[in-house]
Amino acid sequence: MSDFAQNVKQQADIVRIIGEYVRLKKAGAQNFSGLCPFHSEKTPSFSVHAGRQFFHCFGCGQSGDVFTFVQKIENVSFPEAVRTVAQKCGIALPKREFHSPEEAAEHRQRAKLIDLHEAAAQWFEEQLRSGEGAAARAYLAQRGLDEKGIARFRIGYAPDSFHALRERLQGMADLDTLRQSGLFSWKEQEDGQPGPIYSRFRKRITFPIANEGGRIIAFTARALESGEKAGPKYMNSPETPLYSKGHVLFNLDKARQAIREADFAVLVEGQMDCISAYLAGITNVLATSGTAFTEMQARLLARYSKRVIVNFDPDTAGANAAEKSIGLLTEEGFEVKIVTLDGGLDPDRFIRENGVRAYMDALRTARRYQEYLIERARVQFPPRSPEAKVKALNFLLPHIRRVPNAIARNEFATDAAQSLGIDSSLMREELKQAVAKRRDFVASAQAYPLTRAEQILLMAFAAAPGSEARHTAEAALARHSEDFARIREDVQQMVHLLRAREAGIDPLAAMQEPQQKQMLASLFVSVHDAEPASAEVEAAMLTVRRLALEQQQRELRGSILEAERTGRMEDALQLTRHAQEITRRLRELD
Ligand code: UTP
Ligand code: MN
Repeated sequence: MSDFAQNVKQQADIVRIIGEYVRLKKAGAQNFSGLCPFHSEKTPSFSVHAGRQFFHCFGCGQSGDVFTFVQKIENVSFPEAVRTVAQKCGIALPKREFHSPEEAAEHRQRAKLIDLHEAAAQWFEEQLRSGEGAAARAYLAQRGLDEKGIARFRIGYAPDSFHALRERLQGMADLDTLRQSGLFSWKEQEDGQPGPIYSRFRKRITFPIANEGGRIIAFTARALESGEKAGPKYMNSPETPLYSKGHVLFNLDKARQAIREADFAVLVEGQMDCISAYLAGITNVLATSGTAFTEMQARLLARYSKRVIVNFDPDTAGANAAEKSIGLLTEEGFEVKIVTLDGGLDPDRFIRENGVRAYMDALRTARRYQEYLIERARVQFPPRSPEAKVKALNFLLPHIRRVPNAIARNEFATDAAQSLGIDSSLMREELKQAVAKRRDFVASAQAYPLTRAEQILLMAFAAAPGSEARHTAEAALARHSEDFARIREDVQQMVHLLRAREAGIDPLAAMQEPQQKQMLASLFVSVHDAEPASAEVEAAMLTVRRLALEQQQRELRGSILEAERTGRMEDALQLTRHAQEITRRLRELD
């Protein structure tokens, strides 16, 4: 531990720091206890010792010092934890050290972009107060927002000007940085060069989007007027070095403490819904900004609570987004409930028309998501005919398969069968299988680690384009593309992604499945700079091809048996020919 970390640890009071996250009660002269934030429990088994500056949970076994605690609860690295604790204790931070000049430059660039966003937010706020902001002020007032609420969310106004924001900001940063900020647009000129920059948001109410720490990193802006000329109702900052839409939850900075205390979050679609609910006193509310939940957002939220009440719009888009979000959240182990508001209202209008008490009642009567989905299935496919029942079941099966816990999965399936009146044995069998097995990829991503040969193959593809290993691998791939089309799908995908990385595409950003992403991430860190000898590559390519062919052979044998059993002799014959062909190819490899 560095001198600085040591110094911070000495000055930090572990009881006070942990007390910010866990409600602690005195349990002895030096001892405090509370509910463990790392596993769910009803009676406290989490204890903090003031003298030893140490915590331990007798329930889940987590323990450590103040830095370990912050690392775990904030999901940050050790150096970040040290900085966080230092900040909480008011200890001045030493000058930050960077590993490379690039890292230092990147850090400076991000700091500049944050300064630009802060300055833009202040300017938008000023504009809302100015003469030009009168219509925007009137609009906000009519939507029930008072000055306090406007100030709290730092709502502003982007006036109808192409150049005013640029004039305000251009002294702060160079043109490249201004382009990077996402606050401006430009057109490509005839010579292919980017043209002059102009304000991206015009004649719009601006809502800042903050990161977890409350720094503004983007904006979303609502058109003041409706109609085609006004453009889309909401316009967001594009992806920038600071901001990635799927990685941010609107209002998390303000809501996170309340979410932790209440141990649940209310999830709404729109910024206005979120703001209304928050200002009415529902302080544990977040918005997804009109899209389905992403895996990153789930991770972010999991650090505060794993219980969510989803309250999306009842329209089709909202219901679809809700379904997708439910899928992702249950897969990540969240407990999910759903609210649909009477009269088809969104939270914003519901609160304004019925008051916050009625809204709280609605939250209290939130349904378990299983019930909600079964109901959705019934509404979309009224189960009056066998065909409709199949459709309803097909809608539900993926959701049932996704439930991590076997007992809960079984319960869900039983409820579904009962509610849809499923009596056919075939459908019962489908349900039984869904209960028996979680989605396949979950098992495969964990159960089959890479073989040595697969590792070498990937190392070869990760090697520099001109290198011998890479050349050997590419040549084998070109010569036997048919065999390689049969290798494990995730390995294929990695080859693909390694190439994408060379083209400057972030391969992980495009990945959907959390398990695969994790696997790829660990692979990327482990493979990238060992270059295997080309003889090794040659041998590995052979092994991988052989494995792929053998696997295919096994599958074919299964299909042949199945075809024979069901009397499909024509198919059986064709499959057998195919299997013979594979046997021949396998022999060639020897
Ligand atoms: P809604 O259209 O339901 O908006 O979109 P809203 O929240 O009810 O808007 P108000 O009340 O009329 O102001 C829900 C969310 O979808 C995103 C926004 O985040 C919005 O809050 N959205 C919507 C966009 O990003 N672009 C759009 O053009 C529309
Ligand atoms: Mn609305």
